[in-house]
Amino acid sequence: MKIIMLGAPGAGKGTQAKQIAGKYQIPHISTGDIFRANIKEGTELGKKAKTFMDQGLLVPDELVVELVADRIIKDDCKNGFVLDGFPRTIPQAQALDEALAKMGEKMDFAIDVDVPDAHIVNRMSGRRACLHCGATYHVVSIPTKTEGICDACGNEVVLRDDDKPETVQKRLVVYHEQTQPLIDYYNKQGILKSVDGTRPMETVFAEIVRILEA
Ligand code: AP5
Ligand code: MG
Repeated sequence: MKIIMLGAPGAGKGTQAKQIAGKYQIPHISTGDIFRANIKEGTELGKKAKTFMDQGLLVPDELVVELVADRIIKDDCKNGFVLDGFPRTIPQAQALDEALAKMGEKMDFAIDVDVPDAHIVNRMSGRRACLHCGATYHVVSIPTKTEGICDACGNEVVLRDDDKPETVQKRLVVYHEQTQPLIDYYNKQGILKSVDGTRPMETVFAEIVRILEA
């Protein structure tokens, strides 16, 4: 099962992708998590990506495409994978299609988690992320058991640098300009499914499972 999670920043792509990956035992591939791990390790890729991410801008396509193309040919992707935060532009989507075509494969589902902009800024200011294991929490809806400490790995949870309200606004503008056209792209391929992401997380997940198993 090869799945793309689409949706605005903060729509819940990561939250749902982790659950899908757990239920179907397929890797969760988040380009945002990969960049944050590189930033933390101080790699060249991380340094380049950070200048764009901190401004709420997309990292250039050429830095992303190869990264994903190399990842999806790994052994653990044989039974599928869930892409979270990629593709984010039409050229990225085309590059993904080409990489898959070389393997005689194609994507099965593009799931759009639909959340209006008005909900997003609130959600993001409450989000706390573990930069060590990628777990995400929310100060109101999913608090950590101990304040400031990741339940999963015991490291510190923080407000992401790009979750400041003004950066979130910029990310929303970028989303509408560059990423939303993918909804039409996958609709034309006949693999687009939309879910209402404003409902509780468990309800959203149940609907996604229903779509995947229909
Ligand atoms: P990335 O890390 O992908 O960020 P994003 O797309 O902006 O998405 P988020 O991770 O912020 O949101 P999410 O949809 O995963 O929501 P979450 O589940 O955490 O990318 C960051 C940056 O990296 C980009 O801006 C760009 O610069 C760069 N980048 C990454 N990929 C790239 C690419 N392919 N090309 C170019 N650049 C790239 O949920 C959000 C919050 O809401 C959480 O607190 C969560 O607990 C809560 N929540 C989730 N679901 C619900 C619900 N149903 N009800 C209530 N609360 C909920
Ligand atoms: Mg995410």
